[in-house]
Amino acid sequence: MLYKTLKPFPQNFLWGGSTSAYQFEGAWDEDGKSPSIVDMYCHPEDVADFKVASDHYHHYKEDVRLFAELGLKAYRFSIAWTRIIPDGIGDVNQQGLDFYHNLIDELKRYDIEPIVTLYHFDLPYKLDKQGGWSERSTIDAFVRYTEVLFQNFGEKVKYWLTINEQNTMILHPGAIGVPENGKLPDKKTLYQQNHHMFIAQAKAMQLCHTLCPNAKIGPALNITSMYAETCRPEDAIAAHNWETIRCSSFLDTAILGRYNALFLSYLQDRGLCPTILAEDLVVLKNAQPDFIAMNYYSTATIAASKGNASDISARAGDQQIMLGEQGVYRAAENPFVDKTAYGWVIDPIGLRLTLRKVYERYNLPILITENGIGAPDKLNADNTVNDDYRIDFISQHITQMQLAITDGVELIGYCPWSVIDVVSTHQGYGKRYGFIYVNRGEFDLKDMKRIKKKSYFWYQKLIKANGQLDKLT
Ligand code: BG6
Repeated sequence: MLYKTLKPFPQNFLWGGSTSAYQFEGAWDEDGKSPSIVDMYCHPEDVADFKVASDHYHHYKEDVRLFAELGLKAYRFSIAWTRIIPDGIGDVNQQGLDFYHNLIDELKRYDIEPIVTLYHFDLPYKLDKQGGWSERSTIDAFVRYTEVLFQNFGEKVKYWLTINEQNTMILHPGAIGVPENGKLPDKKTLYQQNHHMFIAQAKAMQLCHTLCPNAKIGPALNITSMYAETCRPEDAIAAHNWETIRCSSFLDTAILGRYNALFLSYLQDRGLCPTILAEDLVVLKNAQPDFIAMNYYSTATIAASKGNASDISARAGDQQIMLGEQGVYRAAENPFVDKTAYGWVIDPIGLRLTLRKVYERYNLPILITENGIGAPDKLNADNTVNDDYRIDFISQHITQMQLAITDGVELIGYCPWSVIDVVSTHQGYGKRYGFIYVNRGEFDLKDMKRIKKKSYFWYQKLIKANGQLDKLT
């Protein structure tokens, strides 16, 4: 659709930036924090682990000052369950609460709206040892943890996100980490975990509305539109299969409060259906999200399954690299898009399409909580980082966001991943996303100095111009 006039970004648009606790904070065993599963996973030997990360725990004041100077209106971060209730179910750790109170107060001092993710991949390790998300009891543990957060931070936090990328944890668990025994759970177990997360999420949304009537809460999923490789009807069905299983099924349960019919048929046919109690259906129905948080990195291109093992690609998949599944879909290439140095498709127009589709289906405001380009940024001798590719990537996505707004999508904010360099989920510290460079290597911690990249100054101007790219000088 071509327009004569574009709608501007709303005046109160939440220009922000994102991080997560385990990828940013470090201090993995300080002040009462216990290990989470990500701390204990077998980590690839050639890349950084999460123990020190960007040492935000000890730099939070300096970091927030830099966010304020950048002009952020909002900052999306996660709280580490292992700081608040170290063993997952027992005593509350006051030092953990203090850290997040200090961080939130610091943000408020600069008028930066905190957007808090309740859970970003980091289940307490002790809970995992007792079965983790495979056990129904983890639902109660999660709900109690969220109750502690709502009671302690409900006065200060208006925007809450439930579980970050449940679809990544269930469909690409290896990208988040491999347990000590080297074995990932089988699919049946993963779909039971998935169901428990759905119930935990629904209960947390209800609790949030009861305890914090002025707050808003929503799910945060990794959403990708699937293109059919050709106009062969079989390719269209395969693209729809995978878009449903990977994206709509997670959104439908979180937002519409019911399992998607195609997804349920798939689970039943393959003997993967979780145990669902009658009372669960009521819990799902009663949860009412206020908005949808969407992490968008790329689109994918899909061909019909050949019905044999060759459907599964030889290369390892991750959250943005599709693997294929026998009888469901095959991954295909798109000759019309570029890729990042890490093989992720770059598709800004795909963002507009995805926003339209999500808004049309659910009619809820959308907050983009992740989007960005991972790159091995280079620090020059004069302490500059010329990340023009990041400026290019983000400005192209902003252009498409404005078109989506003009299309009628209610987009309330944009929090690119990541506002500052953090450790990647499985590709170490060399894969950087931030507007702020953190001076450390994979293993050499150097001085952890924060250095503004070229994109920092660009994003600063962009926020001042409320997203009007043509007003940038
Ligand atoms: C998202 C996650 O899938 O992608 C983040 O929510 C993650 O935690 C981001 O860091 C980028 O992925 P990666 O694997 O490059 O760190």
